Amino acid sequence: MKPLAGGLPCFLTFGLWLGLLLLCSWGCPGSAAPRSPPEKIAVIGAGIGGTSAAYYLRQKFGKDVKIDVFEKGEVGGRLATLTMQGQEYESGGSIIHPLNLHMKRFVKDLGLSAVQSPSGLVGVYNGETLVYEESSWFIINMIKLIWYYGFQSLRMHMWVEDILDKFMSLFKRIYRYQSHDYAFSSVEKLLHSLGGDDFLGLFNRSLLETLQKAGFSEKFLDEIITPVMRVNYGQTMNINGFVGAVSMSCTDPGLWAVKGGNKLVCSRLLQASKSNLISGSVMSIEEKTRTKQTGNPTKVYEVVYQTGPEIHSDFYDIVLVATPLNQKMSNITFLNFDPPIEEFHQYYEPLVTTLIKGQLNSTVFSSRALDEFDLGTILTTDNPDLFINSIGLVSSVEENNNPQPKVERAHVWKVFSAGPLTKEQILKLFVSYDYAVKQSWLAYPHYTPPEKCPSTILHDQLYYLNGIEFAASAMEMSAVAGYNAALLAYHRWNGHTHMIDQEDLYEKLKTEL
Ligand SMILES: Cc1cc2nc3c(=O)[nH]c(=O)nc-3n(C[C@H](O)[C@H](O)[C@H](O)COP(=O)(O)OP(=O)(O)OC[C@H]3O[C@@H](n4cnc5c(N)ncnc54)[C@H](O)[C@@H]3O)c2cc1C
Ligand SMILES: *[C@@H]1O[C@H](CO)[C@@H](O)[C@H](O)[C@H]1NC(C)=O
Ligand SMILES: *[C@@H]1O[C@H](CO)[C@@H](O)[C@H](O)[C@H]1NC(C)=O
Ligand SMILES: *[C@@H]1O[C@H](CO)[C@@H](O)[C@H](O)[C@H]1NC(C)=O
Repeated sequence: MKPLAGGLPCFLTFGLWLGLLLLCSWGCPGSAAPRSPPEKIAVIGAGIGGTSAAYYLRQKFGKDVKIDVFEKGEVGGRLATLTMQGQEYESGGSIIHPLNLHMKRFVKDLGLSAVQSPSGLVGVYNGETLVYEESSWFIINMIKLIWYYGFQSLRMHMWVEDILDKFMSLFKRIYRYQSHDYAFSSVEKLLHSLGGDDFLGLFNRSLLETLQKAGFSEKFLDEIITPVMRVNYGQTMNINGFVGAVSMSCTDPGLWAVKGGNKLVCSRLLQASKSNLISGSVMSIEEKTRTKQTGNPTKVYEVVYQTGPEIHSDFYDIVLVATPLNQKMSNITFLNFDPPIEEFHQYYEPLVTTLIKGQLNSTVFSSRALDEFDLGTILTTDNPDLFINSIGLVSSVEENNNPQPKVERAHVWKVFSAGPLTKEQILKLFVSYDYAVKQSWLAYPHYTPPEKCPSTILHDQLYYLNGIEFAASAMEMSAVAGYNAALLAYHRWNGHTHMIDQEDLYEKLKTEL
């Protein structure tokens, strides 16, 4: 028998071939041998992005891979609570849309439950007076809209609802794609697969431009739309149309939060993923070549991190960065990459959440008597003299009720402002107050369309999740990015190119049913 390549006897080669053929029915890259599974994966950041990624990495790569999740602060990240008199209140990401299906499923699968978000009446304050006040009667709201903003406002109102419906129905496609394991190599490709050029085009224009083109009156934009952007993103209508639509959807009914605090989703995801939490701050990532037990040199990433005063390092086959990459927020250095990994300088908006327990001085906003004041949320117009973005009644993370402002007693109010509030400023809003606690954030990107999202693939097996925030920053967006990064890492590791960046998926999956 003539020995074949490498001196293997014929039957053995044949056996190998057969084995390969069998293995390849699971989808192999060309004719190469299937890659052995990764040994270790690092996830940097234990917010909703990082923990959802860890959860899906475990589902895809199986029980043997070791997953380390690094967190320099608290598990939950921008999902956090502030405690006042023994009660916890959401201080970061707080409301979840009824169509945020990943969040919904996490809550269900992880044994958590939902509470309704307060849905009190909304007013808009311009620094002098209330320019708009919602009524509990739908018909009165409609009449007010027409009265204040003309007949076209009603048509506009319907137009907005129509646009949002369309937006949601396109966005929902992502759940379908992800449940079929499809991944995308960039945020742009992901969004393009959902709604094509029109959807992606929302990135290129400001919300202002889009709405002006649609014929909205200046007054309506200043007094209704801008205040909504200020409460949700601390910015004006100069944000891109995509995040504008996400922000508008927060006026929909049925908003909810997680009982006990939204951050519980992160700790439960972490638990369910059976990852190892490392309380430390990652300082640098460097590509290294290492010889493993198998004898072959392989490319790995060295992650250097600090826990307390000590500096450690470890090697990983795959690394997912799940925190905004900039010096102020994560300060991670990418060492010796060729070509170098781009510098990230994205600016995040400073925002302060202040919880105040006190009696609101309602005459500041409205000359009407206190007992007639029934607003639960006061939004503001873009007036530079105003020192707050919004103020609203809140209930603790355990409560499932709607706090009523009417009763003449101290309530807990949440204020968003660009800077910390002074005592004098608080006393301009409150007759008196018992407690005030605050938390400062670098909250979300400063949006300046035309927007380009930072890359998802930073290097061969190095991924970045938070680019998606430049489309829109929201918990559900980070969960979508977490799932996508896990799928992308899995398919790229195994060479499943047919599962990445597929066009016309909607049509393909339609015929599959
Ligand atoms: C005040 C406020 C209100 C909001 N309201 C809403 C809302 O109502 N609804 C909504 O959907 N979204 C809301 N958002 C947005 C939402 O909270 C965020 O989009 C989401 O939580 C981001 O999650 P993430 O996991 O991507 O990032 P993060 O939560 O920021 O997680 C990143 C984590 O990485 C850690 N980290 C950073 N650098 C390192 C390092 N070098 N080493 C180790 N760990 C590191 C950080 O400590 C952090 O825990 C709000 C945000 C804020 C601030
Ligand atoms: C958005 O603008 C960029 C240039 O800034 C352009 O390259 C891109 O094609 C535009 N995308 C869409 C969908 O209009
Ligand atoms: C970022 O990290 C470098 C070294 O890792 C350090 O010298 C620098 O002070 C850090 N910057 C910030 C803003 O924390
Ligand atoms: C409430 O605010 C009004 C208007 O700013 C002010 O005139 C009044 O003194 C305040 N009332 C109290 C009790 O602080």
